Amino acid sequence: FDPQTPQYNTSDSTSFAHTSARERWPIIITQGIDDVHRTIYDTQDEEKVKEGKWVVSELAGLKYELQHDRELSSITDDGEPDVADYNKELEALKPAKWHSVPWLYSECYLYRRISSIFKRTQHWKSYDIFARQKMSTFRSSRPAVIELASRYRDIVTELESKHTIRGAKTAEEPEKAERVLFDEICEICLWGNATDLSLLTNLSYEDIQKLQGSEARKKSEKNIIVNDLDKAFKVLSAAQKGGKKERRVDIVLDNAGFELFVDLILAGYLLASGLATNIVLHPKSIPWFVSDVLPQDFGALIQALADPQGFYSALSDDGEKSGTKTPPLSDAEVDNLKFLFQHWSTFHAEGQLVLRPNTFWTAGGSFWRLPKTEQNLTEDLKQSELVIFKGDLNYRKLTADVAWPATTPFTEAIGPLGPGSGIRVLALRTCKADVVVGLPEGEDERIKAIAGGGGDSGARKWAWSGKWAVVQFSDGKA
Ligand code: F6P
Ligand code: MG
Repeated sequence: FDPQTPQYNTSDSTSFAHTSARERWPIIITQGIDDVHRTIYDTQDEEKVKEGKWVVSELAGLKYELQHDRELSSITDDGEPDVADYNKELEALKPAKWHSVPWLYSECYLYRRISSIFKRTQHWKSYDIFARQKMSTFRSSRPAVIELASRYRDIVTELESKHTIRGAKTAEEPEKAERVLFDEICEICLWGNATDLSLLTNLSYEDIQKLQGSEARKKSEKNIIVNDLDKAFKVLSAAQKGGKKERRVDIVLDNAGFELFVDLILAGYLLASGLATNIVLHPKSIPWFVSDVLPQDFGALIQALADPQGFYSALSDDGEKSGTKTPPLSDAEVDNLKFLFQHWSTFHAEGQLVLRPNTFWTAGGSFWRLPKTEQNLTEDLKQSELVIFKGDLNYRKLTADVAWPATTPFTEAIGPLGPGSGIRVLALRTCKADVVVGLPEGEDERIKAIAGGGGDSGARKWAWSGKWAVVQFSDGKA
């Protein structure tokens, strides 16, 4: 049930896999080592310090293996059942060296190896090596968070009070206005994926802000090269009009911080507008691709909104470094952020907004395997009106990270999750890796020819930076 066409490989010098394995991953491990050092520095417990030093030496060993192109070694049993699956797959790939191994598997393996180090300790078992980075980047998103909080409050207040949008009067207008709003919120949610920590390791405070404002979003609209939002809207709107009582939307989450914030904006909007009655969020179960959401990241975000002044006035890790001083929030800003806290925690308390972790999301394989190996999860997702997959990695997993021709239809590239799967898929993805499908003839070539697009180097460089995006839909019918 894996595709037969070859996947991207770290040996391919024209692929982003090549740079990732040689340059990006060692930096990510080094940053992880720094983070553990900082925690050790703040720890009094001698046993914890001792174990922390062992963790550092294991991480340094992993980095050495990676940089010296050693064979990937079996993951040591840490008591979790997925280790056996990772190791079985590794056997089948042998001899697998870091610089010549399928990109998708090896990158997942990297994060699973890191988590197995922590899982084998007493004092660091649930330690999230990326938590500091996730929270400090969220702090840096303050201007966009404030802007969106105010916009969100206006929208849902209007939706909930009038049950109509922006005073629309005639019969067709509400539908049109609803569409505009749906597109706007989905695009906010889409571009929230562009500021990702695993990719933008050296992003400055100003860079992040530039990427997140409404101006940036408007300019970026033309960079959505395939946009199936209308199909997704039709599905949700038809279910609503059809009077179906329970209408669930699932979001397979990607990154914490700002992206999770905009995912919740989408979730809250869908509930407030009646386009959905329930939202199921799917987080990861281990620290993953640096910035991915763990259940505790959801809690941390909600807490930050419960006490926004406290959150923004606490000295941030990055604030210390750059000397950035943030002025206190105004009363109106605090009010708007607290409104979000109220709104989302009420949905959460009433069971309309739930988190549902599953270890499948941190497995080493693609989503092509889902219907065969995960019957329960598959059945669960079939209950949903729409399953939204956020971000780049989810897209690579949907398409199995195969080097498809760019014109391959999306429904074909997602294999068993396509026609006949019974699962409605919507991918909201800013492109940060080579694989791209569903493009019109000539589009890949057109963008390659733009400066920095890769030209005729054989590399699809335009798809590596998060500047371009695709929104693709498959309705799962036979
Ligand atoms: O392309 C860089 C990269 O880290 C990929 O390895 C990974 O697929 C992706 O970015 C992670 O991005 P996202 O958080 O959008 O899934
Ligand atoms: Mg991610």
